[in-house]
Amino acid sequence: MADAGVAELLLKKLESADSGVDSQDVARDLSVDHQVIVGAVKSLQSLGDLISAEQRSSKHWELTGEGQETVEQGSHEARVFKAIPDDGLPQSELMKLPSGKVGFSKAMSNKWIRVDKAHEGGPRIFRMVETIEDSVQEKLVQIQKGIADEVDEKEKNELKKRKLLAEVTVKSYFITKGPSFSTTITKQETDLTPEMIASGSWKEKSFKPYNFEALGVTLDCGHLHPLMKVRTQFRQIFLEMGFTEMPTNNYIESSFWNFDSLFQPQQHPARDQHDTFFLSDPAVATEFPQDYLERVKKVHSEGGYGSQGYKYDWKIEEAKKNILRTHTTAVSARMLYNLAQKCIQEAKNKVETKEGQPKKQKRGGKRRKKRSNEPKFTPVKYFSIDRVFRNETLDATHLAEFHQIEGVVADYGLTLGDLMGVLHQFFTKLGITKLRFKPAYNPYTEPSMEIFSYHEGLKKWVEVGNSGVFRPEMLLPMGIPEGVSVIAWGLSLERPTMIKYGINNIRELVGHKVNLQMVYDGPICRLDS
Ligand code: PHE
Repeated sequence: MADAGVAELLLKKLESADSGVDSQDVARDLSVDHQVIVGAVKSLQSLGDLISAEQRSSKHWELTGEGQETVEQGSHEARVFKAIPDDGLPQSELMKLPSGKVGFSKAMSNKWIRVDKAHEGGPRIFRMVETIEDSVQEKLVQIQKGIADEVDEKEKNELKKRKLLAEVTVKSYFITKGPSFSTTITKQETDLTPEMIASGSWKEKSFKPYNFEALGVTLDCGHLHPLMKVRTQFRQIFLEMGFTEMPTNNYIESSFWNFDSLFQPQQHPARDQHDTFFLSDPAVATEFPQDYLERVKKVHSEGGYGSQGYKYDWKIEEAKKNILRTHTTAVSARMLYNLAQKCIQEAKNKVETKEGQPKKQKRGGKRRKKRSNEPKFTPVKYFSIDRVFRNETLDATHLAEFHQIEGVVADYGLTLGDLMGVLHQFFTKLGITKLRFKPAYNPYTEPSMEIFSYHEGLKKWVEVGNSGVFRPEMLLPMGIPEGVSVIAWGLSLERPTMIKYGINNIRELVGHKVNLQMVYDGPICRLDS
């Protein structure tokens, strides 16, 4: 039955009713589901004051499936009783009946039956009475007929305990005529059209009121991946600490910047096919700062700056090979080289302008005389958070690509103590306060330290990053002034993200198996600093 039809039938019922009608009664009379009447009430209410409806809730007793069965076939005990012939029935057989178990004990306590345990051939059940009165069935029939009042509460609760009866709460509307009651429904307009205005017909029309409570359609908008949310937080920490972001927008690097400039020897196992992705097209890079390249070649093959070097035949062919960068430290190397060049250039400019000017009168005072061509180095704090690639065997915690977070500080006289201090500050902002350092090895740092933090959940120390002080063999060929040291550290973005978002398998975070709903529903990231 269509809703509009039901609504009109409901109005008809209401017209002839003295005071009002109950929606449950109407549903029964019209033999429709109660929800249909509820729908009709709602739509009539939206039309204005046609009706008024008041919500009610009442409790009533209802037969369960088993109760219904009892009405049709009698109680279990009665069924057991009926199954026993005059000459009795072996107990084992009686127990096999569907009502056997429950019926047997009830019939026993009603004293309808008895057991002859000594009977030859095993215990046998006999009737003890000629006839029985199945009061359980009778009571249920009364309740079903709607004369539940005749059954007292205690008995009803007894039947409830036997799961034959259930008490259900019924919600209904008590519907009465509204101030503008009518039995016909005029459809309300939902739009005020230009035609209605032109013809003036709007004056006679009834308009559907706006529903300001209605939920709007959810906007289809973009969602940030958890990695990007955590990246934002890390970026915030670096910015708070006065760091500047490095431009890391190049996934491809030459081996020169990724390895050679970092004093990583050409035979180093990390430079192998097994660890690094090599590009086939374009397979090689062609442009390098020549002077610097020569210095790098020299420090690898012959040494210098107080170092013996590696003493091997350094080959340009190896340095030219294009690869997918294996760490963002390649970008740090470029940045430090550029920084050194800038300060050398500035020093040169200064000398040139000085030479062009007439010699100034010597002023008094004992100020330290700075050699005019000594590069003036400005301390820097750099960071980056970007993607790197490694030819890894994939598993639950490793992918062939991940994001690296890197911090670099360059200043005169920085020590390992400064590195530890800055790491403490950085990790405290992440909510990690218990730190330990373990000596490690990197070709480009000396000393090097792995960073461990105490994981309260796992109750053990877990590695969270790697760090060190860049070697003179890396910095001096670049032109970084002697006396300037550079401390740096790196960690992955995936690890803290997986911990933060409770993801155990990296393949649920990155790649084609990612559940987009996870991305849509993920809350914003707050690091507990
Ligand atoms: N480049 C190192 C890595 O890939 C991290 C690191 C950065 C270590 C800076 C020391 C200094 O693991």
